[in-house]
Amino acid sequence: MSRIDVPVPVPEEVGQHYDKYAKLADATVGQNLHFGYWDTPDSTASFDDAAARLTELLVSRLPVGPGQRVLDVGCGHGGPALAVARGTGADVTGISISAEQVKVATANAAAAGLSDQVRFQHANALDLPFEPESFDAVLAFESLIHMPDREHVLGQIHKVLKPGGRLVLTDFYERAPIPAEKLSAVERYLRDMKFTIVQPDEYVPMLGRAGLWFVELLDITAQTMRPTFEHMSAKVTGDQGDSLSAEHDQSLVEQLNNADLADVDEFGHLIVVAERPAA
Ligand SMILES: C[S@@+](CC[C@H](N)C(=O)[O-])C[C@H]1O[C@@H](n2cnc3c(N)ncnc32)[C@H](O)[C@@H]1O
Repeated sequence: MSRIDVPVPVPEEVGQHYDKYAKLADATVGQNLHFGYWDTPDSTASFDDAAARLTELLVSRLPVGPGQRVLDVGCGHGGPALAVARGTGADVTGISISAEQVKVATANAAAAGLSDQVRFQHANALDLPFEPESFDAVLAFESLIHMPDREHVLGQIHKVLKPGGRLVLTDFYERAPIPAEKLSAVERYLRDMKFTIVQPDEYVPMLGRAGLWFVELLDITAQTMRPTFEHMSAKVTGDQGDSLSAEHDQSLVEQLNNADLADVDEFGHLIVVAERPAA
């Protein structure tokens, strides 16, 4: 049992959080509202390039092509959905609990000339408004972290996946017990961002109970956590931070400064791949 004590996220509150955060996100991370992936510890890749690299690692795990359908659960500002469309030729439907994000993502698809291939709508992942067996693949990129009940959402994803269809997701987990002296920083971050994290032994049984077969579980902590916390902190402090604070809600800007988490190696990050068994 984890000692991490944070509230269970409420979807409507998560939606309001992202509504408020939309302009600041645009000014700091653009279309990629997720962690970056730096291949080596001495990589000098920018945050944008590292964020695109993590997207690429997920897209490469989606075995879809032109004419097939992908659901992006928790689409943010649309960057990953547009990358799936460009990289695979598949049609993509993205959903978000934030109405503001749906507007931004829709505008981003239009600007990219991909409105015919990529659509976004406001919906709650706990109650997916789609026909059973209507998608060839599902992406849930850094979105289950906000879900009050991951297993329920995995069950919803199972329902809309075609038999043999694939799920690719990322999630945060407690790689090892977080030491007492680091716990308050982790809890502050999870509370501010409306996240929870899972225990390491929970995933495979949870997938199984949702009817999904486990394919891959990959720890990407070293390539993502420390460098993302360091890059984000650099973006929102110093002169850049002052100009962001002048134009945006300062408390939101401060929430992005989590340099104190760079050393929490126990705070882990996973790529998970699963499949709905073929009929
Ligand atoms: C950290 S952002 C990731 C966005 C995007 N996947 C990306 O990688 O850029 C989390 C996303 O999950 C969405 N989300 C959280 N809870 C949700 C829910 N219950 N139903 C639908 N979307 C949800 C948020 O609105 C947001 O778009």
